[in-house]
Amino acid sequence: MKRVVCPGSFDPITHGHLDIIGRASEIYDEVVIAVLVNREKSSLFTVEERIEMINETVKGLKNVTVDSWSGLLVDYCRANSISAIVKGLRAVSDFDYELQMAQMNQELAGVETLFMATRPQYSFLSSSLVKEIATYGGDVSAHLPKTVLDLMQTRLAEVKSGSSADNKDDEKAGR
Ligand code: PNS
Repeated sequence: MKRVVCPGSFDPITHGHLDIIGRASEIYDEVVIAVLVNREKSSLFTVEERIEMINETVKGLKNVTVDSWSGLLVDYCRANSISAIVKGLRAVSDFDYELQMAQMNQELAGVETLFMATRPQYSFLSSSLVKEIATYGGDVSAHLPKTVLDLMQTRLAEVKSGSSADNKDDEKAGR
């Protein structure tokens, strides 16, 4: 049985992520989506909220599960008997950093990284850009599942009105 992990921040999950996850689920027996806690980044959604959103959007994919992890990705892989990471590559600009991480993860724990070419229509898509555009009122409805879009617009309105602070992953993880 081949179990792989699709790691990321998923703040929030986009159609670009879902495309890679869906295609990976056709190749491997089990795909685990791991929401990685990033201590440096402040996020729009808590890890729990991201997990809930992802679960909602992948419920049609029977061999896909969702989890979270704080720490090294290779430690997650070791703890869960995962031998490979699947990542989408959007453009050459992704390549340098992704290659470094892939080589480091291989060196650290023998965990392999498989890169999947993003479909061209998603090559410019990122969670950060989507959040930025939506913050200024731009239309990002083509890039996110409807449930995620609605939650993001609600959260951005809360942030704008001051009723919701930015989430620090660290705080939400109870540290
Ligand atoms: O969606 P992102 O933010 O581009 O995902 C990056 C992520 C979370 C996959 C990457 O930062 C990561 O693997 N973080 C876990 C910590 C870790 O293992 N760092 C060492 C990488 S060699």
